[in-house]
Amino acid sequence: MTNAFALAIGLGTKNSKGDWLEVYYPQPLLNPAAALVEAAQSALGYEGGNVALEADGGELNAFADAIESTDATLAALVRAATESEKPVVVTVLESDAQSVSTPEVYLKLHLLSHRLAKPHSLNLAGMFALLPNVAWTNKGAVDLEELPAAQLEARLNGELLSVNSVDKFPRMTDYVVPKGVRIADTSRVRLGAYIGEGTTIMHEGFVNFNAGTMGVSMVEGRISAGVVVGNGSDLGGGCSTMGTLSGGGNIVISVGEACLIGANAGIGIPLGDRCTVEAGLYVTAGTKIQLLDDQKKVVEVVKGRDLAGKSDLLFRRDSITGAVQCVTNKSAIQLNEELHANN
Ligand SMILES: CC(C)(COP(=O)(O)OP(=O)(O)OC[C@H]1O[C@@H](n2cnc3c(N)ncnc32)[C@H](O)[C@@H]1OP(=O)(O)O)[C@@H](O)C(=O)NCCC(=O)NCCS
Repeated sequence: MTNAFALAIGLGTKNSKGDWLEVYYPQPLLNPAAALVEAAQSALGYEGGNVALEADGGELNAFADAIESTDATLAALVRAATESEKPVVVTVLESDAQSVSTPEVYLKLHLLSHRLAKPHSLNLAGMFALLPNVAWTNKGAVDLEELPAAQLEARLNGELLSVNSVDKFPRMTDYVVPKGVRIADTSRVRLGAYIGEGTTIMHEGFVNFNAGTMGVSMVEGRISAGVVVGNGSDLGGGCSTMGTLSGGGNIVISVGEACLIGANAGIGIPLGDRCTVEAGLYVTAGTKIQLLDDQKKVVEVVKGRDLAGKSDLLFRRDSITGAVQCVTNKSAIQLNEELHANN
C-alpha cells in the first residue's frame, strides 16, 4: 500500500494532559507521491490507515533522508521541525474516512484553506467532537482550564496574554494566506474556509469552514458553513446566506456565478447564475413569490424552493404591495472591475 489520500508534517500544541489543541501544517499534500508514503513506512513505522504519527528528532531525520530525492522542500521542512519546541506530527490519511483524531481534522481543514480540496468534497463527519474549544491568544492556543494560570504568569512577567477568540476553530490566516486575496478583518475567516483567488472580504464579511468563494468575489456579507459562492458573485453589506447547522433547513445554499445579493438581503435557497436579490429582501424556501412577465403582470405564485438554482432571476419586494416578486434579471450585474482589481 503506497497510495494515500493526504500526508502532512505538522507542528502542534497540546495541553498539559497531552491532548492536542491544534496542529499547523505548513505544506499539506493531497494524493502524496508513493515514495513519501513508503518513507513514512520505513522511517516512521507507518502501517497504513489514517494516523497521526508523533515523531522524535531521529525519526524525523530518517524521514527527511528518505524523502530528500522526492520532495526536497518537504525534507527541509522535516529537518527544521527537529528543532521544534512544539510536538511534531506526521499525519498520513490513507483515505478520506471519518476522522478519529484532532490532527486528522486539522489536516482536512488545511486542505480546504490551501485550496487543495473544495468545500463539500471532504468527509468532515464527527469533526466537532474532535475540535477542542480553545483560547486563541497572541501566544498561540491555550487550553481553557489552563488559561487563568497562563494569564497570571504573563502578568507576573510584565506581559499581557491577549485572548483573541474562544472557539473550536482558529482564524484561517494564522495557518495559511492563500494567494491573491484581501481580508480586511482576519478574525472573520475560520480555518477550513476556501477563499478563491481574487476574493476580497471586507470587515463585515464572514466565511465559515467548508464554505467559501470559487474565484473573484466581493464579500461584505456572511458565508455560512457549507455555502459556496461562484466566480464573479458579490455579497452586499451585512447580507446573509442561510446555513444548515442550526435550524436553517436541509437545503444546502449556494450562489452561482455573477450574482449580487444586496445589502442586508438574505437567501435560504440556492441561486443559479446572474441572479440579484434586492437590498433588504430575505428569500427563504417557503417565501411565496409572484412571478411577473415582461409587462409586470403576475403569471404565477410559487415558493422560493421552486426557484432554487434557477438562473437570471431578480428577486425584489414590491415597495407598494409588500409582495415578493421575481422578474427576469435584465441588468445582471457588471462586476466593478476596479473594486476587484486590487488584490
Ligand atoms: C433590486 C435592484 C437591483 C433594482 O435595481 P435596478 O434594476 O437598477 O432597478 P431601478 O432601481 O432602476 O428601478 C427600475 C424600476 O423599478 C422600480 N422599482 C425598483 N425596485 C422596486 C421595488 N422594490 N418595488 C417597486 N418598484 C421598484 C423603480 O422605481 C423603477 O421604476 P420606474 O421604471 O417607474 O422608474 C436594486 O434596488 C438593489 O437592491 N440593488 C442591490 C444593491 C446592493 O445592495 N449592493 C450591495 C452594496 S454593499
